Amino acid sequence: MGLHRLTSITLGVPDVAASTAFFHDFGLTGDGLLSTRDGGEQLELVASATRSLERLGVGTDDPDDFDRIAARVGHSGLGAVVESSDGRLVLSEPVTGLLVEVTMAEPYAVLPTPHTFNRPGVNERFDVPAESVLAADGVAPSNLTHVVYGTPDQPTTLQFFTDVLGFEISDQVPGIIAFTRCGEVHHNLAIQAAPVAFPHHIAFEVDDIDDVVRGGQSMVDADPERNMWGVGRHAIGSNWFWYLRDPSGTFVEYTADIDRISAQDLYRPKDWQGHEFLYSFGPPVPAEFLEPSDLADLIAAS
Ligand SMILES: [Fe+2]
Repeated sequence: MGLHRLTSITLGVPDVAASTAFFHDFGLTGDGLLSTRDGGEQLELVASATRSLERLGVGTDDPDDFDRIAARVGHSGLGAVVESSDGRLVLSEPVTGLLVEVTMAEPYAVLPTPHTFNRPGVNERFDVPAESVLAADGVAPSNLTHVVYGTPDQPTTLQFFTDVLGFEISDQVPGIIAFTRCGEVHHNLAIQAAPVAFPHHIAFEVDDIDDVVRGGQSMVDADPERNMWGVGRHAIGSNWFWYLRDPSGTFVEYTADIDRISAQDLYRPKDWQGHEFLYSFGPPVPAEFLEPSDLADLIAAS
């Protein structure tokens, strides 16, 4: 199998305490290293003058990947090996210096939750209300499922992740954004053209649409300023979404029911045009989602 999922990321934020409080409300647990329900410690927050993506962790189940990837760094001339030790390889991405850490990782051990859906012709639940109606606890995100990363040289950053790391392209709008994956989930990393390197958003997978709505509404009820965009369903990847805004300005997504791809040659990407790829249905896309309001500050600080 080789690479199969994201492991963890490090986000730089100006106010670690404020962002930590945001992610606690979001459903993550712990301090400094925040945990998801099924992925363990997946989000590290560190102090930074401006918001940034400092490190992206990728998990493999094949120990030969370390030598293979290190060799491809040399052959491609893209990026550099920063650290190589037993079971751990750290590379620097050639455009932005993003650290990419490859480690051995187990697949997520997920116990399916008993969510039932009645629909015409399929009755899964009799005599009791829906599980989400009875749920007493807040939403517990299962795992860190994708990151969307802006880079000032999108083709080169994309080439690094495909040619060196071995990510595959699921869908793309050439030169604008490429949705790539390192496992079955439609996208783990989307690489978008931007005037400066920055984390556009990070996404956590929840059990179903009920949890997307329950989580999003709870976050917005606590602070309406957190609302960014949702609830809706993306076109590329099919995933449900509700985007919030963390105090640093990075968008944070509850997502569910994203496409899975079993093999590249069995998958037929549609030919997406313009902004059609953004969503199938939902509220109109906010201008700030396309161009975050702090972009000028991020450029000035770069
Ligand atoms: Fe997303």
